Order: sequence, then C-alpha cells, then structure tokens
Amino acid sequence: MVDAKIHAANHARWEAAVPRWDAAADSRGLWRRCPKEPDLVLCPAERDHLGDLSGKRVCVLGSGDNQVVFALAGLGAAVTSVDIAQGQLDVAARRAEELRLDIAFLRADVTDLGAFADAHFDHVYTGGHVAVWVSDIRRYYAEAARILRPGGLLVVNEYHPFRRIWRAQGDGLAVATPYGERGPFAYHRDADILRPSPGPLVSYEFHWTIADMINAVLHAGCQLVAVEEYGEHVGDWEGAPMHGLPELFLIIAVKA
Ligand SMILES: C[S@@+](CC[C@H](N)C(=O)[O-])C[C@H]1O[C@@H](n2cnc3c(N)ncnc32)[C@H](O)[C@@H]1O
Repeated sequence: MVDAKIHAANHARWEAAVPRWDAAADSRGLWRRCPKEPDLVLCPAERDHLGDLSGKRVCVLGSGDNQVVFALAGLGAAVTSVDIAQGQLDVAARRAEELRLDIAFLRADVTDLGAFADAHFDHVYTGGHVAVWVSDIRRYYAEAARILRPGGLLVVNEYHPFRRIWRAQGDGLAVATPYGERGPFAYHRDADILRPSPGPLVSYEFHWTIADMINAVLHAGCQLVAVEEYGEHVGDWEGAPMHGLPELFLIIAVKA
C-alpha cells in the first residue's frame, strides 16, 4: 500500500533539495551534453533494446536531473518527464528551453499516474534512485506498465540494491541493515541529499531487493527481456568503500 504521509515527507525533502541538486547537475555539466551524446547516460543495453526512438512516445518517471529525458529527446523521442517535485521540473523546463528541446512535464507521484490513459506510451523509463523513495513498488511498476502499450518496453535502471546495506568499518564494510530489511528507514536530515547532515526534514527510504523489483515488474504484466548488473563507480557520497560491488541493476521488460 502507498503510504501517503511518507510520500508527502519525501516530496517536501525533494522540493527543499532542488537548489543543491540543480547546482550539482550544473557542475557535472552532463545535461548540456546528453542530447547529442546520449551514451553518457544510457548504457549499451538500453540503447540496443530501445532502438530507433524517432517519434516514439516515451515517459520518464522520477525524472530528477532529467539527463535521461534530454538524452531520449536528443534521440528523437517525444518525451514526457514526470516527477513529484515541481522544483525539479521547473529547473528541467528552463534547461530544456535553453537546449531547444520540446518536452512535456507533469508533476505526479509515480504510484498515481491517473493523468495518463492506459497504453499511452511506446516505452516507459524509470530509475536512477527512485524506488528507494517509494513505499509500494508493486503499485509503482503497475502504473508504469498500465500507461505502456502492449509490446512496449519498461526499462528500470536502479542503484544496485546490494549497495544499500553497508557502512564503513575500518578499511572495509560491515552490514548496517540486513539485505531483507525493506524499511521504511526514517532519517531527520537537512535539504542536502548527496551529503546530508542532521536537520529538520524527515525522509523515508525503502531497501527493495532484486527479487522485489523483478517480481513487481512481472506482477505488472511484463515479461523479462534482459537483466544486467554493471558499473563500478564509487560515489564520494556513499560513505563506505563499495569497490568490487556492482553499481547499477537494469531490468528491461516488455509489456505482454
Ligand atoms: C535521485 S533522483 C532520480 C532521478 C535522476 N537519476 C537524478 O539523479 O536526478 C530522485 C527523483 O525521484 C523523485 N521522486 C521521489 N519520490 C517520487 C515519487 N513518489 N513520485 C515521483 N517522483 C519521485 C524526486 O523528486 C527526485 O527528483
């Protein structure tokens, strides 16, 4: 079940996080490049399976910095960008205008996409640390599949769940939360999501497992096309040495 109070708290924290998220994206500078260099943000399996996107209707759920949205638009797709935080969408709309990209923006919770008719999109893309904020992963992926046409692809590219369980201990790792504990884990923090300090905003995180994600996709009426675990990047925000662990978990599924 979707927990509305939890989603409201997470929404408030994301709205508060926008200025710093915006500044971090500016310092990376990728958003300017990815319309012409989509491989900066889309992996080879995503490019191969999505194929020719000219004129295809694609929805990106939990679009955040919108780098994937801009890459898909650069490949010719008609993209709709959905996020719970209006501030994220406002920043992205300003950048899209600067890049002369024609993108539709909608503020919505990924567990309630009632603004879209069934089977409206050719493909739905989601991920990059979105599931961790969502209290009902089955409802989330069921909504993603509902707005997807039969034969269309659901692409889920998430931070690898196995990376979420660790804390640093000496030079190595110790288990901070057992893999099977989904949460919600509540944190009282400031608005900085990358390098948080204690603060007045409460946020809630969910540690969905690989099985939870795959089962939610299957439960939504999709069939697996490919799964991949890849990437080695260790972020300085991670707080524990993740070397040797996969960074990302990719699911590509087709709506039956
Ligand atoms: C870490 S970002 C992921 C997107 C992108 N990879 C990025 O790094 O900016 C998480 C995004 O998910 C959005 N989000 C969190 N909970 C959401 C929900 N229930 N519905 C829609 N968007 C949500 C946040 O507002 C934020 O923009």
